[in-house]
Amino acid sequence: MWKKLFKGEPSSLPEGNLLYDRVNRTRLPQHTAVIMDGNGRWAEGRGLLRTAGHTAGVDALKQVLKVAIDLALPALTVYAFSTENWKRPHAEVDFLMHLFSDYLAREINEMDEDNVKLHFLGRIDELSPRLRQQARSAEEQTQNNTGVRFNVAMNYGGQDELLRAARQLAAEAQSGQLQPADIDAAAMERCLDTQGLPPVDFVIRTSGDMRLSNFLLWQAAYAEFWFTETNWPDFTPACFVDALVAFGQRDRRFGGLKNK
Ligand code: FPP
Repeated sequence: MWKKLFKGEPSSLPEGNLLYDRVNRTRLPQHTAVIMDGNGRWAEGRGLLRTAGHTAGVDALKQVLKVAIDLALPALTVYAFSTENWKRPHAEVDFLMHLFSDYLAREINEMDEDNVKLHFLGRIDELSPRLRQQARSAEEQTQNNTGVRFNVAMNYGGQDELLRAARQLAAEAQSGQLQPADIDAAAMERCLDTQGLPPVDFVIRTSGDMRLSNFLLWQAAYAEFWFTETNWPDFTPACFVDALVAFGQRDRRFGGLKNK
């Protein structure tokens, strides 16, 4: 199985597989969101360029997606590039954009074979024409897949997404399609990039910082959080399983009382 994961082959794991033995399959998150932090620190700790950390981060992502496929998680959303990440040096931004593009070119067919349904969150239309086209074509290629819904947030900011939704609702109200009093949670969710996805119930952040960094602000309202000191490139399938086991043990009350 490990061989399978590391080789990135489509896997159908037998029940009782060692890695997954500890996971309570009846208490898995419906929508896991991951802040893949610490690529730079991982590289700097090894005397490498920050970009080497991003390259290593791609391998970690591939393995985490495999776990999601093996366990049939309904939805996985990863934070690849925020609306604030443009403030980084031009060379790093450029490197990341090429990395995303290469990743899509290399992985899309295997994701498709694995029945993964890809979707992109954020201002995709402001990315380079090549990346934009790859993102749209990946969505189209996998649109009828019924497995893991894998969402990549690129040029994404939670506040920006809420502002875009507010503008859309205001325009609908102005044109008479909608009464202001009809703006409820369902109307809001219809205008978000995550339309049709379950609410985020689990947020994982690597590398020690404990903040949401403008990620899925609406969607994560009742999410459980899992923070680890591990830098993203070192986040192995076993680390992901640890997090999923912890999620299965959380007492989720949604503002109510236990067992009421
Ligand atoms: C954080 O590390 C990571 C990012 C800015 C996102 C990039 C993610 C990857 C390259 C993983 C693969 C993703 C895809 C979609 C192929 P950081 O640079 O903020 O680390 P630091 O906080 O240690 O500086």
